[in-house]
Amino acid sequence: MALRDIVMDTNPQLRKVSRPVTAFDAKLAKLLDDMRQTMHAADGCGLAAPQVGILRRLAVVEADDVYLELINPTFVETSGEQIGPEACLSVKDRSCDVKRPYRITIAYQNRDGKPMRKTLEGFVARACCHEMDHLDGVLFYDKEYRQR
Ligand code: CO
Repeated sequence: MALRDIVMDTNPQLRKVSRPVTAFDAKLAKLLDDMRQTMHAADGCGLAAPQVGILRRLAVVEADDVYLELINPTFVETSGEQIGPEACLSVKDRSCDVKRPYRITIAYQNRDGKPMRKTLEGFVARACCHEMDHLDGVLFYDKEYRQR
């Protein structure tokens, strides 16, 4: 395993829409392992491939004692809402409230390409939403929630 450099939001790469993962091979497995290690080293709870300079639709999330490898993730269903603070390993010294669904059901593939489906709620659901936004070039502060 190896640590990867994290791309900061000053880099326009982070604004691009990532392409689907099509190869479920040793290179993908290494990328996932590296991303998990990089996330741990940076003390984060999620990391998306564009954040390490790879414009492919995958992310790792570790929150609420759950570790997920989300490959080609999509929302099946969302419900409720939660408002809470977010930050990002690609964004220095900034945090703001973001409104997210409270509960999500997502479909994705695991590292072997097997279709998966999971229902999550609370913080880990928020973390997945944040990482999935990265795959479309969206950053948390684009969605800053202001009480009015
Ligand atoms: Co982020």
